[in-house]
Amino acid sequence: MKVDVLLGLQWGDEGKGKIVDVLTPDYEIVARFQGGPNAGHTLEFEGKKYVLRSVPSGIFQGNKLNVIGNGVVLDPALFKGEIEALEQSGHDLKSRLYISKKAHLIMPTHRLLDACYEAAKGDSKIGTTGKGIGPTYTDKISRNGLRVGDILHNFEEKYNTAKAKHLRILNQYNFDTSALAGIEKEWFDGIAKLKEFTFIDSEHFINNAVGTGKKVLAEGAQGTMLDIDFGSYPFVTSSNTITAGACTGLGIAPRNVGEVYGIFKAYCTRVGSGPFPTELFDETGDQLRKLGFEFGSVTGRPRRCGWIDLVALRYAIMVDGVSQLIMMKSDVLDSFETIKACVAYEIEGKTVSEFPFEVDDRIKPVYVEMKGWQADMTKMLKEDQFPKEFTDYISFLEKELGVPISIVSLGPDRAQTIIRK
Ligand code: GDP
Ligand code: IMO
Ligand code: MG
Repeated sequence: MKVDVLLGLQWGDEGKGKIVDVLTPDYEIVARFQGGPNAGHTLEFEGKKYVLRSVPSGIFQGNKLNVIGNGVVLDPALFKGEIEALEQSGHDLKSRLYISKKAHLIMPTHRLLDACYEAAKGDSKIGTTGKGIGPTYTDKISRNGLRVGDILHNFEEKYNTAKAKHLRILNQYNFDTSALAGIEKEWFDGIAKLKEFTFIDSEHFINNAVGTGKKVLAEGAQGTMLDIDFGSYPFVTSSNTITAGACTGLGIAPRNVGEVYGIFKAYCTRVGSGPFPTELFDETGDQLRKLGFEFGSVTGRPRRCGWIDLVALRYAIMVDGVSQLIMMKSDVLDSFETIKACVAYEIEGKTVSEFPFEVDDRIKPVYVEMKGWQADMTKMLKEDQFPKEFTDYISFLEKELGVPISIVSLGPDRAQTIIRK
């Protein structure tokens, strides 16, 4: 048995949470492999809506086991809030959510450092979610981090040592740390909540499961264009969001990766700063934002919107080794008379089809224009109901991208999903 991976191919918010939930009945274990509460994964079914941040999206379909892997960074205070909200809506996860001892802890001072570094960047801010993601991964790599397993022995001492280091940096920047005492209290309450869960050696757990024929789905957060190595650096997150991140974030050998499901929106969005070649600043962009309800699920920030970028998508498919594509939110384009897709970039008079090192204002998208389908797709139940223009759009994308589109999502609800034969 191999581990299947599901991840975003654009700049995040592609609809990963919805599809993990849809696919969960086929799996016994769902495991998050990177990121932290910078993620906001939205699921809708039976008239209810949930936004998950650190908890994997496989918790609502039967009693499936869910795992927070070693590649994830966890904020105990936010985790407590998320768990309590789920408990209040009747979902007790204690017996079916396991947490890797090797996952790193986001400390209150990491959140302050995130704000401090952003303020210090002035006009070149990343536009982070402010959740302390960058500083926590920085401490992991510089071997100063605190891990979930550390909670079990001499924790206060380790915490105070790390905190003192952070305070020295914050003081150098003259950063106001007066909020710390308040956040710390919530954070230690979160540690107490965390201790109610089972801590595991998740690499053993996942490999044993795979070895005994169990099906595992690895859930990514963010998107390939936010990857620390291959994204639009420095305007990226601080983890490997690509398929390889599932190997390091769960302890799966590359040869044990099975299907790679790559998710993309039928158009494109981005939150925060950084290059976005197909971004629209006109009425069409506003329309995409309005119809797609493109506002961040974590920060509420308006998302930047534009046409689909096939140069960036081909690049993502290449680094991820995508074997099946999943197209989301095509219903948002239902009312458009014409639809555009960027098939290449023009840079200083040259046509470029490979995603370049520098993505800046010199890039002009080369568009192909197609007739829109102008039909309400949200109530379609089968593929044979699709209008010809919609089928043409799918065929066009499959040809351009070289990978089949096996699932099409036509609305936020679990039921508005068409699995193609
Ligand atoms: P994730 O971070 O990749 O899980 O995606 P988000 O949850 O941040 O953002 C996706 C948004 O689109 C959520 O509000 C979903 O409810 C919504 N959504 C998902 N699929 C569809 C779809 O096919 N059509 C429409 N209109 N909305 C969708
Ligand atoms: P999901 O999993 C969209 C973006 C932030 C910022 C950059 C760095 O819901 O798709 P960070 O807080 O990670 O240091 O911010 O990355 N970002 C996301 N954008 N969806 C996400 O997650 C994101 N997580 C981080 O907006 O530009
Ligand atoms: Mg999201």
